[in-house]
Formats: sequence, C-alpha cells, structure tokens
Amino acid sequence: MKILAVIGSPRKGNTYRAVQQIEEEMRASDDSVEFEYLLLKDVKLEPCRGCFLCVSKGEAFCPVRDEQQQIFEKMLSCDGVIFASPVYAGSITALLKNLFDRFSYVCHRPCFFGKHALLVVTSCGSRIPDTLKYMGTIIGSWGFSIDGKVGLMRHPAIENTAKVEKSMRKAGKDFYCAIRSGKSVPPSLGMLLQYRVMRMNALGSREHFPADHAYYKDKKDYYLDVRIGWVKNLFAKAAEKLIVAMMSKAA
Ligand SMILES: Cc1cc2nc3c(=O)[nH]c(=O)nc-3n(C[C@H](O)[C@H](O)[C@H](O)COP(=O)(O)O)c2cc1C
Repeated sequence: MKILAVIGSPRKGNTYRAVQQIEEEMRASDDSVEFEYLLLKDVKLEPCRGCFLCVSKGEAFCPVRDEQQQIFEKMLSCDGVIFASPVYAGSITALLKNLFDRFSYVCHRPCFFGKHALLVVTSCGSRIPDTLKYMGTIIGSWGFSIDGKVGLMRHPAIENTAKVEKSMRKAGKDFYCAIRSGKSVPPSLGMLLQYRVMRMNALGSREHFPADHAYYKDKKDYYLDVRIGWVKNLFAKAAEKLIVAMMSKAA
C-alpha cells in the first residue's frame, strides 16, 4: 500500500507531526505500508498564470514548466493521499491553494477514481469544519473517495496532546481499513450533479472546451461505470433538464 502525504504548511510543525502519527498507526497495522511526504514548501510549483489553457485545450498546453507533472504522477501512483493543511486566515494555506489552482482542470476531467483520500486540518481552534468541507469539495471533484476528515486544535495555551494523538491514530487506522477494503464511497448527489453540469457544458461547447468535449463525449450516466441509486440518478437527470430549460430561457 502506497501513501502520499501532501503537507500544505510552510514548516514542519503541528500538521506534519499530526500526519506522522497517522503514518505510525498505518505502519502499526501493516509494516509494508510505504509512506512518502510531499512538503509543498519544498517543491517547485509556480502560481497559475491564468491562461485557462489547461481547462480549455488540455493540461499539456500549460505554459508553466515546473514539478506539476511529477506531483500529478506521484498522486496517481498511490493508493491513498493524505492532504493536510493548517488553517491560515480562515482557510487552507496558500501553498495548498496553489496546488488546487494548478490542478483546476482535474475538476473538469476527474481522474483519481479508485484512489482514497484522508483530509487533515490543524488550527488554533477556528474554521476546521469549513476548511475540511472546502478541501473535500475540491479533492472529491478530482474523483478521490474521501474516506476520512480529521481536524485538530493545537492552541499554545491548551494542552491536548493525548486527545490529538488518539484522534490521529484512529484516523490512521480507519484510513488503512478503508484502503484495504477496496470499497469506494458511492457517488454523492453533489458529484452526480457536478457530472451532469460538466458534461452538459462540454458537449455544448466543443469549440471552447475541446479537452472536456473529448473527455465526456462517450460517457453515459456518470464518469465511470458504477451502480447509482435510481432515485439519485433520476434527481440528477431532472436537475440537468431544469438547468437546460432555464439556460435556453435566459438565452
Ligand atoms: C499566518 C497564520 C494564520 C493563522 N490563521 C489561523 C486562523 O485563521 N484560525 C485559527 O484557528 N488558527 C490560525 N492559525 C494557527 C494555525 O492554524 C495553527 O497553529 C496550526 O496548527 C499551524 O500548523 P503548522 O504548525 O503545521 O504550520 C494561523 C497561523 C498562522 C501562522
């Protein structure tokens, strides 16, 4: 089992230590687990230049030459990725946001199905649920199965080391078991709607979004061939029809 830990902090601090505890627990479950850290502070990942070519024409058209492709391949070659960030000014750090920006095209053409993700957030106490929710929205839209979300408070004036350690160990054990079971979280209604909207846009704008068009043109009810509950599917289809009707009325 290969795990990649993407650390969004600009230092080896609380977030890094929390992930180390997860690593220890996963290794205790199975000593063959391979663990690699990707400290975003140490990689060459330049800011997005905003040309939009990765989304419209395809990721190969990105004009920035840095370590983006290596990072992509690292994520793709793993069974599970831990995305970890401290809360800075109410959300993820700029380092992790930059990674999200540079992989924006993956929200259009998700490719991490079958891969598992665990989300970790540390803060002095505020904005943990919002930050985890935001991370889940982006990473889920890349196709990852979000198998766990863990937030921990590290306040200089509050000693809660034992509690933190316990929650990290539990997160590590649960993540290990989720990957081991091989089961992925079934598509949520949100993902079904995302799929419908993205496909509708891609099929209707071949000229502007050729990369999306090529990705969606042969797809049916979802990104991949999985069982979808009929109620959810019916709702997603109806929502798509409604959006089409509203758009043609607005045009
Ligand atoms: C620039 C900066 C901004 C921060 N903003 C927040 C915040 O909005 N809310 C909060 O609860 N903690 C905030 N913190 C505290 C960190 O989230 C917290 O100490 C975290 O555990 C640090 O993780 P690290 O040691 O891995 O960098 C901030 C810390 C820094 C350095």
